[in-house]
Amino acid sequence: MTDQSPQTQIETINEAFEKDFERFWPFAHDSSALAAVDLEQALIEQRAVSDLRTRYLGKKSELAAAKKLIGRVAPEERASFGQKVQATEEKLDELIHQAEVNLADHIYKQRTARESLDVTLPGRRPRRGHRHPITLLRERLEDIFVSLGYAIEDGREIETDFYNFTALNIPENHPACGKADTFYTLDGFALRSQTSTVQIHAMQRRGVPVRMIAPGRVFRRDTPDPTHNPMFFQVEGLCVDRGITMAHLKGTVGELLRRLFGPDTVTRFRPSYFPFTEPSAEFDFSCFKCKGSGCRICKNSGWIELGGCGMVHPNVLRVVNVDPQQYSGFAFGFGIDRMCGLMYELDDIRLLFENDVRFLEKFE
Ligand code: DAH
Repeated sequence: MTDQSPQTQIETINEAFEKDFERFWPFAHDSSALAAVDLEQALIEQRAVSDLRTRYLGKKSELAAAKKLIGRVAPEERASFGQKVQATEEKLDELIHQAEVNLADHIYKQRTARESLDVTLPGRRPRRGHRHPITLLRERLEDIFVSLGYAIEDGREIETDFYNFTALNIPENHPACGKADTFYTLDGFALRSQTSTVQIHAMQRRGVPVRMIAPGRVFRRDTPDPTHNPMFFQVEGLCVDRGITMAHLKGTVGELLRRLFGPDTVTRFRPSYFPFTEPSAEFDFSCFKCKGSGCRICKNSGWIELGGCGMVHPNVLRVVNVDPQQYSGFAFGFGIDRMCGLMYELDDIRLLFENDVRFLEKFE
């Protein structure tokens, strides 16, 4: 380059620039040339123009080098050379500037258009969720018991053997205590296998008299099948006061089932055995579907088995320092999932935990 005369150098710069600038030419002169250029492309062009500015007008440009020569050319050529350098610089700057201005303007308009809101567009309706069928049923049960003066207790899902078994008068050699039936953590805590555990917590915390229900999750080492799940929901009820009898138990369970399944619902108690109640019973109610004449739901018996109940065993009262001579009480427990499955005629209760929205949507 240096072996070219300064004048020629300027011409060479001019020629090179014109070639490089050719594709930006429309941007500098014809703002409609940008109409077809989208935002992404315009940003690319903007960067290219900026590079061009650095290359031709920056500190390290050939033009900047030529400027330094002004003082060194022969005095008689100096003025015309100086003018030529300046004119070239102005021309390049003007062209690049025009392209920059038009591109910046175009980019601004494109951005504004893209970010503007069309307030006339119909809104996007968020898909609203709803409560799970088990939650819906649990809340119905809670409403019924709250109206009967019961408190709602929140239990623990991980328990010591004391709450899960011993305090409930379940002897250590009882099969339910074994690892075959109950899940244990590595530290030896049991995942509670029944909500009856909350009876103990409630009496320890509230003392007596007490009336409470405790809905919650329980865990058993059952192989899943259409009527079993290793995790399911139960609700426990406990009422302890002076003079509580089995008549209160029957009245309460009967009232619950009439409120849930209609005023003609009949309740039946069958003698049974549970370690934490004496006497103990299981309770059934007349089938809400066939009203007792026999159908698929009640397996043609006319009755649906629901849960266990009884009068709180004196040993259970003693564990929590309640004198069985002065106080008596009843307790009951049943499965919420099972009841849910019956009410909605589910063939498989595992559906309740698969979280398939096509199934869950039906309960809205
Ligand atoms: N806990 C028992 C079970 O899981 C149900 C039960 C039976 C609860 C009798 C009670 C009761 O409170 O008195 O099968």
